[in-house]
Formats: sequence, structure tokens, C-alpha cells
Amino acid sequence: IRRLGVLTSGGDCAGLNAVIRAVTYRAVRHYGWKVFGIIDGTMGLMERPLRYRELDLDMFSGNMLREGGTFLGTVNKGDPFNYPMPDGSTQDRSLDFVDGFNKLALDAVVVIGGDGSMRILSQLCERGGIGMVGVPKTIDNDVHGTDFAVGFTTAVNVVTESLDRLQPTAASHHRVMILEVMGRDAGHIAVNAGISGGADVILIPELPYRLESIAEKIDQVIREGRNHALVVVAEGVKTEDGLNAQVAHSHGQTRYGGIGHYLSDRISKMTELETRETILGHVQRGGTPSTRDRLLASAFGVHAVDMVAKGRLGRMVAWQERGVTDVPLSEVCIGPRSLEPDGTLINVARGLGIYIGESP
Ligand code: F6P
Repeated sequence: IRRLGVLTSGGDCAGLNAVIRAVTYRAVRHYGWKVFGIIDGTMGLMERPLRYRELDLDMFSGNMLREGGTFLGTVNKGDPFNYPMPDGSTQDRSLDFVDGFNKLALDAVVVIGGDGSMRILSQLCERGGIGMVGVPKTIDNDVHGTDFAVGFTTAVNVVTESLDRLQPTAASHHRVMILEVMGRDAGHIAVNAGISGGADVILIPELPYRLESIAEKIDQVIREGRNHALVVVAEGVKTEDGLNAQVAHSHGQTRYGGIGHYLSDRISKMTELETRETILGHVQRGGTPSTRDRLLASAFGVHAVDMVAKGRLGRMVAWQERGVTDVPLSEVCIGPRSLEPDGTLINVARGLGIYIGESP
């Protein structure tokens, strides 16, 4: 009998519980192993007493497939190499994690995480000689090696539905609606939902833009006979002169709390149209997982356990083209995955006449 650990790390998203369920079903039902859910990501193995719970089949008899968030918890400050101390300094507590893994006598750990977690956890596991299999999750969909990460399509659905709700109120009031969505490093959410929700302008961190071109696009839409416009912007987009609006605001350099505020102000001045901004924030991370996220979570969970059974460790499960596969962690841990500037969806947006920024 093997002892398998499973933990969630980094920001939560819809579909995490569905992955944990699939891992437990496969490991317990098919292989007869024991599965231990580590509480609060890396923290559960770093702290003493260890914090974990054995995962039984009956825990999943109810809602787990449907529930958002992670019932195991995930704590963002848990980078064991740079653990923040109360006095502001940091400490390397990686050996506490390794020691926790050994104390629990685990054979391997399934890490459900985004690109940052994959990097940290793979270094940790390498350091301690720990067998790890990664499962990609993030609403941002910016993990290398996989077409989709768990949580992404649910977030895109939330944003698309928000545009469906913003459009009628925009039309009623003759307004330009600016919707700021998540995506610190990459514009996958903005592009997917922007196209699906009928945006006129989509701004993403990957492509530079000109305020003048945004105003021209909105003027064109109005000339075509519409009385309103929709703008989607990813939070990682900078001001036209390259400032992070939120950081600059906290340093007193701008009066804009975020890129949504900045654009709203500039667009209203340039077009003389009324604007309103909506910052969707963590609403995008909550809720029940979409069908696609449930399928992905189930496929990833089963495959991850099969990889442990076959000794295919140091890899991450992935979705490529039409099926589930796996890739070496070394190919994943190379930073966030950006949109290709001339990829399919950017070209679709351009083909529809959406302004999506200048060519780089
Ligand atoms: O990485 C996922 C993500 O949702 C980003 O899009 C966003 O910037 C970040 O997490 C927010 O994290 P926090 O939960 O720390 O506010």
C-alpha cells in the first residue's frame, strides 16, 4: 500500500475539489492506497504538529465535485524557501517541508498549483528527493505545457456572463463600460471572454496599445450606429506610459486605483462619452466549476495517480490537443505562459474588428 499526499497551492479556483476527489477515487478505489490531504498547501507539512487529514471515499459522497474553492485550504505565504517571519525577514524552511513529508511517510505528493507553485514545489521536492506529480490549475491559464489549467473556463464563463449583464445597461445609458479582469501576466481570460462577450476593445499585457486607437475604435462603433461600447482590460496592462496603475497609485504617482479606473477616465475625456468601470476581482475565482473544468479535473486527477503508479515522477499532467498527457516539470517551470501575439484568438479578435492593441 502506498501513501499519497495531495495539496493545493497558490490562488484558489473552481475545480480544485474535483481534482482532489478524482485523485482519491483513483488511488483508493483502483490501487487501494491511502491518500492524505495536506492542509493549507505547504504549510501543513512545514508546521508541527503536521496538519493533514486522511481522505476517505465517503468524504466525496456529497458536493465535492461541484464546490468551488479548496476544502484543503491554500495559503499564499507558504513559500518555504522564503518564509516570512514576524520581524519582516525571511527564513529558508524548506527542510521543515521535507521533514514533514518524511514524518508522514509519504511515497509521493500530487501538487495542484499554478506556474509559481510548480516552480517552488519542484525545487522543494528535488531538494528532499520527494516524488512529485503536478496538476495545473489557475484561472489565468498561464501554465506552460498545457492548453488548459483547471479553473480557467469557469472564470471565462463568469467574465462572459458579466459582459452579458453589462451590455444592456451600457445600451440603456449610452455608456462605455470598462471591465477589468484578472490576468497579471497574461491576457487569456480577457481575450477568451472578450470575444465571447462581444467586446469592442480588449487590452492584454502581451500587446502595447494607444489610447488614441481605443478612442478611434469607440468612435467607429458609434458611427456604425451603436450607442455604447464594451472594453475588457486585463489587470496586468500598464498605463500608456508604462506604469502599473495600482502600484503608481499606492506611491501617490497617479490618482487611478487600477488600470480600469485609468482607462475609464481617459476614454471619457477622449470620446466625451460617459464611462463606468467594473473591477471583477475574486468573483472570477469562485463558484461552481464549469463542465469543462470538472472534466479536466477528473482526467487530471486520474492521470496523476496513474503516473505515480508507473513511477513517472517530476512531471505535470497536461491537456494537449485532444487528450490528457504529461510533460517534464523542467519544461513547465519557465515563468508564465503568454498569449502568442499572432495566435488564433488574437487573429480572431482582429478579424472581428476588435481593437486588441498594436503589433509588438
Ligand atoms: O494567479 C491567479 C490570480 O487570480 C491572478 O490573476 C491575480 O492577480 C491573483 O491571483 C490575485 O491573488 P490574491 O488572491 O493574492 O489576491
